[in-house]
Amino acid sequence: MRPRRPGACPLAGRRAPGLELPPTDMSTSRLTRRPAAAGLVLRVATSADWLPGALAALDAVLVDHAHCEKKAAANALSLLQAYPEVPGLPAQMARLAREEAAHLAQVLQWLERRGLALGRDPGDPYAQGLQALLRTSSRERQLDRLLVAALIEARSCERLGLLASGLPAGELQTFYARLAQSEDGHQRLFLRLAERVHGAAAQTRLAGLLEAEAALLRRLPVRAAIH
Ligand SMILES: [Fe+2]
Ligand SMILES: [Fe+2]
Repeated sequence: MRPRRPGACPLAGRRAPGLELPPTDMSTSRLTRRPAAAGLVLRVATSADWLPGALAALDAVLVDHAHCEKKAAANALSLLQAYPEVPGLPAQMARLAREEAAHLAQVLQWLERRGLALGRDPGDPYAQGLQALLRTSSRERQLDRLLVAALIEARSCERLGLLASGLPAGELQTFYARLAQSEDGHQRLFLRLAERVHGAAAQTRLAGLLEAEAALLRRLPVRAAIH
């Protein structure tokens, strides 16, 4: 077994030991079954305090997770709306929106099973902190939006994988293992798009954003939430 890279999505490129994945469904579409491009590697791992807190407040985490999937679907459509001229982007974002909406529907089913209401979205300080890093010129903003989306997907992948590693064997654990793989495919998709459209500038900017993401993570309090 390969050693786990600090800060990397724990399920990137492999299955977690002992986690058998169910048959392919909406959450493992063509988007995530493409040949694996090199994904990004986060600079810092999630605090060891996060998983025990998340497991102790799993209902709150599930509600937050539903909001995350909703925003991921909305962001895919927003990117489609903003950048229809980028070759391939509209079709990829349409498929991604469908996949994220499927994740949302699945998390909402979990809420229903546990008697939980979705409620209003209180906001996500992590995502807001990353959004604040977007530059303003249209070309730079496009690159930043793609890379910030990749970062959020990568961090989501890590957190969902941590949940899968900490939950008892069962349906919810399998669900989170499968979603972690799916989010890993999404971060690769955004990175691929950024590199294809922006060339070498993508890696240069990514290095700065990875540092900023690490600093943001250190600054924010640990919450019973996906981010
Ligand atoms: Fe998702
Ligand atoms: Fe995603």
